[in-house]
Amino acid sequence: MHPATRTFLSASLLALISAARTFAVEAPRVVEHNGRHALLVEGAPFLVLGAQINNSSSWPAVLPKVWPALEAMHVNTAEAPIYWEQLEAEPGKFDFSTADALVQGAREHHLHLVLLWFGTWKNGNMHYAPEWVKADPRKYPRMINSAAEPIDVLSANSSTNRDADKHAFAALMHHLKEIDGTDHTVLMIQVENESGGIGSPRDFSPAANKEFAGEVPADLLKALGKPRGTWRDVFAAKADETFQAYHQSRYVNEIAAAGKREFNIPMYCNVWLSYPFAELPERQIPNPGIGYPSGGPVQDMISLWKAFAPAIDMIGPDTYSDDSGFYREVLSTYSRPDNALWIPETGNGDSYARYFFYALGQGAIGFSPFGVDRTGWTYSGEEGPKLHTENFALIGPMDREIAKLNFEGKLKTAVEEPGAASQELDFGPWQASVRFGFPQPDGRRPPGTQDHHGRALVAQLAVDEFLVTGVDASVAFHVPGRLPGLRMQILRAEEGSYENGTWHMTRLWNGDQTDRGINFPHSGAVIRIRVGTF
Ligand code: DGJ
Repeated sequence: MHPATRTFLSASLLALISAARTFAVEAPRVVEHNGRHALLVEGAPFLVLGAQINNSSSWPAVLPKVWPALEAMHVNTAEAPIYWEQLEAEPGKFDFSTADALVQGAREHHLHLVLLWFGTWKNGNMHYAPEWVKADPRKYPRMINSAAEPIDVLSANSSTNRDADKHAFAALMHHLKEIDGTDHTVLMIQVENESGGIGSPRDFSPAANKEFAGEVPADLLKALGKPRGTWRDVFAAKADETFQAYHQSRYVNEIAAAGKREFNIPMYCNVWLSYPFAELPERQIPNPGIGYPSGGPVQDMISLWKAFAPAIDMIGPDTYSDDSGFYREVLSTYSRPDNALWIPETGNGDSYARYFFYALGQGAIGFSPFGVDRTGWTYSGEEGPKLHTENFALIGPMDREIAKLNFEGKLKTAVEEPGAASQELDFGPWQASVRFGFPQPDGRRPPGTQDHHGRALVAQLAVDEFLVTGVDASVAFHVPGRLPGLRMQILRAEEGSYENGTWHMTRLWNGDQTDRGINFPHSGAVIRIRVGTF
């Protein structure tokens, strides 16, 4: 029994039980097969239905305001920061009270955890470095901008900075192994937060300048298939950013590798994306160091990061634009055979809920809106995200089944777009016509929904059998080239739910519920349907 499924027990009793257990839960890991990915938890695919708490909410005194919000949202995993400034307020003296409170609280609330290491970088600055680092720039050098001024970012070209961060991170991972090496409440670790430099495209310290004037190192040329030359010759306008990314990816890799030597669980980096102009209202300039932190694994630095940060299992885009074209482009950019798609942060507003279905359709291993707790920062009172909650309530009871079907490549989704209230999903001998919005009078186009929130998911369980769910959508099966109802029929349509992996039927759907497609009202439902030809 995983602690996330256990009812409340006191901390000391928990510790005793853990110690007395005769078997250990298998450590989580990310696997790839035919270009698809799964996060294996206790040996089986797991779909992270996550939410990230606000930046200053990871304090034992604040956590009581965190858990109820996460429970109300039906998440299965909480994302919470661990702050370097708190963990190591004095050099070499570690305080693990935050990690302990998070692990214990998550277990009590039947949740898993993703812990976020706010170390050298947080949103392209050094705001979570301990005071003793901030106060000693001689020892812990900052990035220098092109005007020779130090900025509010630690230099990625300093081994002293790296080793200080690495020492603290390794201590954290060592401790996590002690408290969680058997139970694995913690699924993954995010190494740094949106790493990179805001304020300069690279470090312009004398030493970095000297290196930048020389030739590009052979390992980078080889990784990117480039000819020899200086940084400027080889990378032209991208030279500064590439130089920064080269140093930063190796810096982060060394920290992650040291952490994995202590406790080997999946590690990832999140990224502050490079957004198009229109998405940058207050910055306006999409340049590295201005529009986004320079050196991070933005869209065109993924291959470099993959080559130089092999200890990082994946790079996850923080996606804060609800422009559908851009969002979908980001999903496909970060979904690569060498990179599991994982959305560690996204907007908590209703306009972002549809992208959960796009992410699933693209094979995502998880999805996690930002800023969910009851501290009053993002929501007042007991409010929380509305449509994200609907999604998680619908998918949560069958998250394991969905993760497995997706890993096997059997799942497709349809998401309503303006002007596209009808869509087709292709399952070979069967196709599914998805139509959004009601009513859907015979012979008329479906109306769509006012704010285009319609969404549906279809997974093929066997050749003629499907698992189907949706919101404000109808799904009609048909054979290719023929309309629904022609030379085919519904043999059986069961409404029901999964409980611990077993399907329980509550009733059969027929008549008005299935005659013009399986009609999913706004409240959603889950259907297993068998179809046949005649
Ligand atoms: C992205 C960062 O990664 C988060 O920590 C937080 O600062 C959000 N932006 C704020 O919206």
